[in-house]
Amino acid sequence: NAESTLIITVVGASGDLAKKKIFPALFALYYEDFLPENFTVFGYARTKLTDDELRNMICGTLTCRIDKRENCEEKMDQFLKRCFYHSGQYNSEEHFAELDEKLKEKEGEKLSCRLFYLSIPPDKFVDVVRCASLKASSGNGWTRVIVEKPFGRDSESSGELTKCLKQYLNEDQIFRIDHYLGKELVENLSVLRFSNLVFEPLWSSNYIRNVQFIFSEDFGTEGRGGYFDKYGIIRDIMQNHLLQMLALFAMETPVSLDAEDIRNEKVKVLRSMKPLQLEDVVVGQYKGQSTGGKTCPGYTDDPTIPNDSLTPTFAAAALFINNARWDGVPFLMKAGKALHTRRAEIRVQFRHVPGNLYKRNFGTDLDKATNELVLRVQPDEAIYLRINNKVPGLGMRLDRSDLNLLFRSRYPKEIPDAYERILLDAIEGERRLFIRSDELDAAWALFTPVLKELEEKRIAPELYLYGSRGPVGAHYLAAKYNVRWGDLSGDDS
Ligand code: BG6
Repeated sequence: NAESTLIITVVGASGDLAKKKIFPALFALYYEDFLPENFTVFGYARTKLTDDELRNMICGTLTCRIDKRENCEEKMDQFLKRCFYHSGQYNSEEHFAELDEKLKEKEGEKLSCRLFYLSIPPDKFVDVVRCASLKASSGNGWTRVIVEKPFGRDSESSGELTKCLKQYLNEDQIFRIDHYLGKELVENLSVLRFSNLVFEPLWSSNYIRNVQFIFSEDFGTEGRGGYFDKYGIIRDIMQNHLLQMLALFAMETPVSLDAEDIRNEKVKVLRSMKPLQLEDVVVGQYKGQSTGGKTCPGYTDDPTIPNDSLTPTFAAAALFINNARWDGVPFLMKAGKALHTRRAEIRVQFRHVPGNLYKRNFGTDLDKATNELVLRVQPDEAIYLRINNKVPGLGMRLDRSDLNLLFRSRYPKEIPDAYERILLDAIEGERRLFIRSDELDAAWALFTPVLKELEEKRIAPELYLYGSRGPVGAHYLAAKYNVRWGDLSGDDS
C-alpha cells in the first residue's frame, strides 16, 4: 500500500541467473501490476557499475509477453528507472551499511520491507547473510532472504549451512527456492490429484505400477563446468527438482492448502523413504561426438574440468516409499545432460486390468495395454492419459490413444516463468513453494549415503554419446523392477 515500500536487492546482480531469470521475472511482475506501488530494485555485486550501466545490462534481457505488447517499451523505461546499483564486497559490513543508507533514502518514513535475492555462489551465502542482516535489515518491516541451491553437498554441509544462516535469520525469513515448484504443471499436480474424483482413488499401489520422474536436456554443461563438477547430476537435479515433484506426487492429503500443512506432508513422505542404495543407481557421463560436420564436446573436454573427472552427468535411480499407500511401488528417476531431447515429465503407469476381456487383442505384451498418465512439465506443457480405444470400423481392432490436454491449445496465454511465481510468493510471504529446513534434511538423508559411496569407491560412470538416449544401464535398472521407461507402446524414452 501507499504507506509501505518494497526493496528487492539482487545480490550477485551481474551474474548469469540474475540477468537471465531474476530481472526479467521482476519486470514481468511489474508489467502485470503485481508489484506494490512503492517498489525499488537494487543490484549489488563486486563489479563497479553505475545505475545506468546496470540498466543497460539488464534492458536487453527484459521481454514482454507475446500476447501483451502494448506499452511495452514505456513500461520497460519505467521499470528501469526504479533499478539502482551498489557495488561492494560480499563480506563487507561497511559496504552493506552503505547500501542500507541508499535503501533508507528510497524508503523515507514509510514502512520498509526488504527482500534479498542471493544469486551468488554458495560459499558467499553466509557472509552476505551476516552483513545484510547486521547492517541492511529493515528497521520497521520484514526482511526476507531468498537462497537457491546448492544447499551444501551432503547432509553434514547442508546442516552446517542451515546452522550458520540461522545465526542471523529466523527460519521464516529464509526462502529456499526450488524453481521446479514454481512451474505451472508442478503447481497443477495437486489440483489434478485432489480436485478430480477420477484420480485420487487410484493414487496408490493398488492401481499404480510405477511412477517415473524424467529430466533430460539436449545440451551439456558448457560454461558451467566449474560448478557442475563439484556437484554432479544427482545433487543438481535429483535431490531437489525430481525429489520435490516426487514428494508432491506421493504425499498424503494435507489438512489444508496452508504452507505448513503441505510441507508437513512432504516431509512425512520423504522420511518414509528408504535411502537410495548403490545397486539402485546407474551413473553416466557424456563423451564427445562428431556428426555431420558438427562437433559436440565431451564432458571432460571442458578445460575447467579435470580429465579424469568421474562426476556423473546422467543418473537413473529407483526409490521406494515404505508406507501403506506406496508399499512396493518403484519410483524411478532419470536425469541427464547432453541427451537427445529436452524434456521434464512425470509418468504414471497403471496396473493391468484384471481379467481383461480384450487380452487377446494385445498379443503377448500386456504391458502395452496399461493406462498411462503423463504430466509433461516442459516443453509444451500437457497432461494426457493413454487409454485403449476401438479403432472405428467393422471388426475389433484396438488402438492406444490419448485424452490430451495440451496447454497451448486450451490456454493460449503465455505461461509465466517459474521465477515470477516464486518471487511473487516470497514478496507476499507465501511459503508453500519454498523448502523448509527439515524437508531439506530429509532430502539429503536419502541421497547422502549413496553419494559418499559413489565417491569413495570411485565408481566410474558409464560413458554415453552426446545427443544419445543415455547409458543402457538405465534400462537394466528399470527392468530389474519390471519397468520400461517412457511410452509403453512406442519408444520415446
Ligand atoms: C538448475 C540446474 O537448477 O535447473 C541446471 O542447476 C538445469 O543444471 C536447470 O539446467 C534446469 O532448469 P529448467 O527450468 O531450464 O528446466
